[in-house]
Amino acid sequence: MSNISITALVLAAGKGTRMHSTKPKVLQTILNEPMLYYVYAALKPIFNENILTVIGHGAEMVETAFPKMTGLFIEQTEQLGTGHALQVSWDAVKKSGATHCLVINGDTPLVTVEALDRLVKVAGCCDLAFMTITPKDPGEFGRVVRDEDRKITAIVEAKDYDMNIHGSVTGEVNAGVYLLNVLTMESLLSDLKNENANGEYYITDLVALAVERGLTVDGVQCGDDLSLMGINSPRELIAAETALQHQIVDSHIDEGVLIHNPQTVIIGPKVTIEPGAEIFGHCEIYGESTVTAGARMGSYNYITDSTFAAGCDIRQFCHIEGAEVGPNTWVGPYARLRPGARLEDGARVGNFVEMKKSVLGKGAKASHLTYLGDAEVGAGANIGAGTITCNYDGKNKFTTVIGEGAFIGSNTALVAPVTVGKNALVGAGSTITKNVPNEGAAIARGKQVTIKRRLKKSD
Ligand code: UD1
Ligand code: CA
Repeated sequence: MSNISITALVLAAGKGTRMHSTKPKVLQTILNEPMLYYVYAALKPIFNENILTVIGHGAEMVETAFPKMTGLFIEQTEQLGTGHALQVSWDAVKKSGATHCLVINGDTPLVTVEALDRLVKVAGCCDLAFMTITPKDPGEFGRVVRDEDRKITAIVEAKDYDMNIHGSVTGEVNAGVYLLNVLTMESLLSDLKNENANGEYYITDLVALAVERGLTVDGVQCGDDLSLMGINSPRELIAAETALQHQIVDSHIDEGVLIHNPQTVIIGPKVTIEPGAEIFGHCEIYGESTVTAGARMGSYNYITDSTFAAGCDIRQFCHIEGAEVGPNTWVGPYARLRPGARLEDGARVGNFVEMKKSVLGKGAKASHLTYLGDAEVGAGANIGAGTITCNYDGKNKFTTVIGEGAFIGSNTALVAPVTVGKNALVGAGSTITKNVPNEGAAIARGKQVTIKRRLKKSD
């Protein structure tokens, strides 16, 4: 194996017609991550950065979703089939200097590092190897044809399969992951024809061509390995998503995370949860979120890209995105934390409070009906119900600073840029447009006028 080097090539240019979506198929999400994310995650431990990707349909969208892969994308402007995708990429494959190329369909998101490793291990033994599975329902998979000696002779697509020509079906099908010897495959590529039911150039035709030329072909049999199922339709996507959902939740439970009602908990593949955290279903946690030991996540929360420290208590029905929730804090019920929201030790955010790009200092509270946008709230400050930081003048955003220990009365509008000093007080119902000094008290509301009520004279 010493003189063998392998580059990976992901086929991701297809439209995914059977998904009935304008989005390229490889960007359809499973547990909130695009399908292609999973393929890369399985390839990276083996191939590091040596991963080329053929894109075409919705190419720009794919490039935007994976900016780190820039320079490794190859464009197939017209999608004339998987064989054509390979032809278009061949120069880049050769330029990589690799002796072998592992080609994988981009719609195989559940593939595992272990499965890929099995195929990589046969490099050096043959010119062309591919993975085969024997699923309960062979559906539209390409059929593997073997001769009387069980030697592989071809892969024939379901639509092109003819029992009279190809014999009775074996149930063994092509999983869409191939290992090609770059040198020996070279001359076969130009011999691919599109004379088939779809009028496309098929990568799978390389098998019969290789056999005809006396090259060695091998099928790595992976049984009914579910992880190699391709995703072509919404039903297949949902089946893969459900399987992965349970797999991820189960592994967290095995690690020591207490998950109540686990069938209703959805955790993304990039989420970190420490043993000793407690989670109640229904709940969705996605992106690069971290839940620390001792954090408590109540039911019906939607979380993405957020961190939760020990002793935080997230009550029900919160929407939390890009937030940093410190230790011993309370959030919700019914709170919304948007990107850049940060709660320091012991801070509290109650019902119908929205925070964006704002910090609540140690022990500070915003318990009801408040909007904090571009605000810095000092330790121990109290934000009364109905307080709004008016951070936007229609063109620009401005900051509101509220000092330590300040008390903001209910129904106050703080028109930014504005500072309320340490231990200052703002009277309820104020519209604050000027800075309030440390320990100052400000009130800015219409004066109350009280007169005698006029009642209707009764007859
Ligand atoms: C393919 C195989 C089939 C196999 C199955 C496994 C062929 C001809 N058939 O069928 O034998 O059982 O996968 O899942 O290869 N793509 C391009 N450019 C194109 C066309 C497709 O990049 O011009 C990409 C698609 O984005 C997709 C992959 O190639 O990721 C496979 O294409 P798809 O149309 O899904 O092939 P299947 O019909 O599933
Ligand atoms: Ca497919």
